[in-house]
Amino acid sequence: MSTPASGHTGTPGPDLTTVAVYTERFVLRPWRADDLGELAEAAADRYITSITSVPAPFSTEGGHAFLRRMTELAAGGVAVPRAIADRATGVVVGHVSLRLRDLDLGRIGLGYWILPAARGRGAAAEAVSGFTGWAFDRLGAERAELCVEPWNEPSKRVALRAGFVREGLLRSFQVMGGQRCDVEMFARIRPPAPPRSR
Ligand SMILES: CC(C)(COP(=O)(O)OP(=O)(O)OC[C@H]1O[C@@H](n2cnc3c(N)ncnc32)[C@H](O)[C@@H]1OP(=O)(O)O)[C@@H](O)C(=O)NCCC(=O)NCCS
Repeated sequence: MSTPASGHTGTPGPDLTTVAVYTERFVLRPWRADDLGELAEAAADRYITSITSVPAPFSTEGGHAFLRRMTELAAGGVAVPRAIADRATGVVVGHVSLRLRDLDLGRIGLGYWILPAARGRGAAAEAVSGFTGWAFDRLGAERAELCVEPWNEPSKRVALRAGFVREGLLRSFQVMGGQRCDVEMFARIRPPAPPRSR
């Protein structure tokens, strides 16, 4: 199920294993075997490895297994994981993923991280905003959700800058880093279609 029908157009959706999404400065494209160096950098960040399946400690074998998992998630229509690469230089600066488990209910979720050396340029907000708009247009999603731990101020800023609204605190909502934790729910709703002209 790598080409879901687009909910509001009824037309066949994009091939989730290959599709690339462009924002002003970045391209969100599938992870590739030559990205293992950036994956190794991500594996050195303890918070990234605690909330994702980025292998820690890093090994080439673990890196290839991560890449295979990303392809399988997209091929199965479970998620659309993409590397965030600089359009000018091609350098990978981070990761953003759409979770599609509840797409048939019109809801998607997003997860993201930026390599420590690439932070401070608003990359996550640009990637999250662009990917969310794409999911509204091309996958027919109606509501996008971000769950952020209450202490994670940079991530909360990312959510707001990407057009999400804070909806509240969900207590003991999910396991992150091996522990149940509260999360703040941020959501963005697909804008209504403009009225048809006669
Ligand atoms: C969250 C994360 C993706 C943001 O990376 P980024 O896109 O480079 O974000 P920036 O450094 O440009 O900062 C984004 C905003 O947070 C603010 N910010 C940065 N560090 C901050 C801090 N320690 N306290 C408060 N605000 C902070 C910035 O000023 C900026 O605010 P603005 O948009 O109002 O200008 C990155 O920190 C990261 O990868 N963290 C680890 C993984 C993670 O937390 N993922 C999200 C899980 S929900």
